[in-house]
Amino acid sequence: MNTISAMPVNPVMKEGDFLPLHGTDFVEFYVGNAKQAAHFYKTAFGFQSLAYAGPETGIKDKASYVVRQNKLTFVFTTPLRANNPVADHIYKHGDGVKHLALMVDDAADAWFQTTSRGAVSAMEPIKYSDESGEAVVSGIHTYGDTVHLFIERKNYNGVFLPGYVAWNSSYNPTSTGLLYVDHCVGNVGWNQMNKWVAFYENVLGFRNILSFDDNDISTEYSALMSKVMSNGNGFVKFPINEPAEGKKKSQVEEYLDFYDGEGCQHVALATNDIVATVTELQNRGIEFLKVPASYYDELLERVGKIDEDIAPLKELGILVDRDDEGYLLQIFSKPVEDRPTLFFEIIQRKGAKSFGKGNFKALFEALEREQDLRGNL
Ligand code: FE2
Repeated sequence: MNTISAMPVNPVMKEGDFLPLHGTDFVEFYVGNAKQAAHFYKTAFGFQSLAYAGPETGIKDKASYVVRQNKLTFVFTTPLRANNPVADHIYKHGDGVKHLALMVDDAADAWFQTTSRGAVSAMEPIKYSDESGEAVVSGIHTYGDTVHLFIERKNYNGVFLPGYVAWNSSYNPTSTGLLYVDHCVGNVGWNQMNKWVAFYENVLGFRNILSFDDNDISTEYSALMSKVMSNGNGFVKFPINEPAEGKKKSQVEEYLDFYDGEGCQHVALATNDIVATVTELQNRGIEFLKVPASYYDELLERVGKIDEDIAPLKELGILVDRDDEGYLLQIFSKPVEDRPTLFFEIIQRKGAKSFGKGNFKALFEALEREQDLRGNL
């Protein structure tokens, strides 16, 4: 028997780390056709079917497909009729990220701690239960129409969340080695970065661990600024970008134009073997940004000795950068929808905790070539 009830809140302000997070619980995308989107992520990215909710399970206005790969869980939700907030979201933004859901021990308290520090509630704490136990969900608004959900599932043993049934499929493509969400980047409007930095500091208790200004991130034409926000244990990282003035249109501005507002620009997915993962993704049709072959000419001089052979990195277009603690390998997909909005980063960290600043110039020149092809530079 499924039940839904309001979850009481204990109104006591905490000190110190008032919002302990265990990581990203799931990323939910609002899409025009969830059935086909789930198939694409299974086929191209190597996810497996996990759970489903829709008309057959008593949900009358939308359908949601849940897929999983290691610790990565994606949810694809689509409206069944026009008069629906999910439909409004898609009409305005196209396919995109709606929920960045965070794993907590106490979703009612996470809601209280954040809303009492200024967050706008998106969902008061609700307890959902079924025969597999109970889960508590709450939510707050962040940039644009994006929402952070707080998910408390310690008393739940079901396949995903109450209300969902197991989705058993006869089509089970193999994994591409993607492991978990490394970070999720938000694009915000002109002069809005510091407002959202303050939001993550004051409302969620995050801190600013890295900053890039337009001197770090500018090419001949386009520029952006970025600040990386991290929670206390470093499991959740949200870089925030805003456009900066350049000769031509910033890539962030192109996103804001086509997403029709602020939103999630990219989700970075971790792997332990980027050469194998990217080889597999490319074989399955995922397209990546390419840097010129000359990028690799002075690579070892710039980053020092690395474990990998240069030849496969060069062939696949994988970038390398080093910081004080080690190095990282990364590559960026082209947008995964027709609007030049959301894309994915594939990242393998070998000690480095940074974000590939040394690659920004080569990368942004590659991005600008794409932007120019679209007539948006
Ligand atoms: Fe990134």
